[in-house]
Amino acid sequence: MRTTTGWLAGPNERTLRRATIHRRDLRDDDVAIRVDHCGVCHTDLHSLHGARDAALVPGHEFTGVVTETGPAVTRFAPGDAVAVGNIVDSCGECAMCRRGQENFCAAFPTLTYGGTDRHDGSPTLGAFSREYVVREDFAYRLPAGLDPAAAAPLLCAGITVWEPLQALGTGPGTRVAVAGLGGLGHLAVKFAVALGAETTVISRSDGKAADASRLGAHDLLVSTVPQQLAAARDRFDVVIDTIAVPHDLGPYLRLVALDGTLAQVGHLGTLTVEAMDLLVGRKKLTSAGSGGRPATAAMLDFCARHGITADVEAVPSARVNEVLDRLSAGDVRFRFVLDLADLDA
Ligand SMILES: NC(=O)c1ccc[n+]([C@@H]2O[C@H](COP(=O)([O-])OP(=O)(O)OC[C@H]3O[C@@H](n4cnc5c(N)ncnc54)[C@H](OP(=O)(O)O)[C@@H]3O)[C@@H](O)[C@H]2O)c1
Ligand SMILES: [Zn+2]
Ligand SMILES: [Zn+2]
Repeated sequence: MRTTTGWLAGPNERTLRRATIHRRDLRDDDVAIRVDHCGVCHTDLHSLHGARDAALVPGHEFTGVVTETGPAVTRFAPGDAVAVGNIVDSCGECAMCRRGQENFCAAFPTLTYGGTDRHDGSPTLGAFSREYVVREDFAYRLPAGLDPAAAAPLLCAGITVWEPLQALGTGPGTRVAVAGLGGLGHLAVKFAVALGAETTVISRSDGKAADASRLGAHDLLVSTVPQQLAAARDRFDVVIDTIAVPHDLGPYLRLVALDGTLAQVGHLGTLTVEAMDLLVGRKKLTSAGSGGRPATAAMLDFCARHGITADVEAVPSARVNEVLDRLSAGDVRFRFVLDLADLDA
């Protein structure tokens, strides 16, 4: 076993404390990564606040540098800049894995934290820590030119909205709305704009209007003003819903155009849908999460070509609890990223 330092919450604890954590010794196809930057995802908050009987180290969108490689590693060498997202292994054999959708592995992908290693059965601990050990197949080369701090959120927030935008054929002529302008939402806006779509933000107030416009959005609708939603009825081919809390889908389905789609990626619990909201306009409801290896690599390539990264506030990792409180209060524009270098001290 190897040891490193990270931010850990014990069973049912909501506050992270600095702790020594263990990593496995490198297997033949593993790389060890010095974690430099890890984004703070709203899922980290959900995980911390949920009931748990095990310790938790959050963090599943990170960038860093390869420090060691197992003997069978072919794609990486020490010194390479890499990025890792929220899945770190899969069966490799099922129909989903063979299609490059390891995120939907029939045997369930291994999650970066809160999962179970599929080879030794150990619980996985996330990247709010100075080192991570991962199969080389689930590490991605970080394109030169992408700032490592601002690129980290691409690996969860980014890919989670990239896959549905791609699957729904977003491009010039597509009318896209993004509900919830947070970590996922602001990257969805940047992607939709770069793909050539006419892009609208739906937010709870007009307080983010200037940001929305700076991100390239053409319009902002205030979800708490019914007249604004009514005026936009049947307008959007694609609605990406990133709202972090349970909510009525009706108002968002009514914004979807004939044969269009609502992709609800924000709330991963039970959904209640009024069938008439789908029937009228032959509308579709879908979801997505994380990404397969080919799509993740393609997204990073797209980001490098278009100069897309997240808008981040990078802070020393010792401020992690303060950052989680601010994220909980909605006080973030638009992603916190932890700088893990302070764990060396
Ligand atoms: N599908 C997946 O695999 C996947 C991956 C990552 C994250 N997620 C989930 O996606 C959600 C968003 O994550 P995030 O990191 O983007 O979170 P975030 O940065 O906190 O953004 C969430 C946005 O939701 C809106 N919102 C928050 N509270 C709300 C409330 N009470 N009522 C209405 N709207 C509210 C806000 O938008 P406005 O201020 O603009 O209204 C906020 O900016 C989380 O639930 C997270 O767990 C899912
Ligand atoms: Zn996430
Ligand atoms: Zn599989």
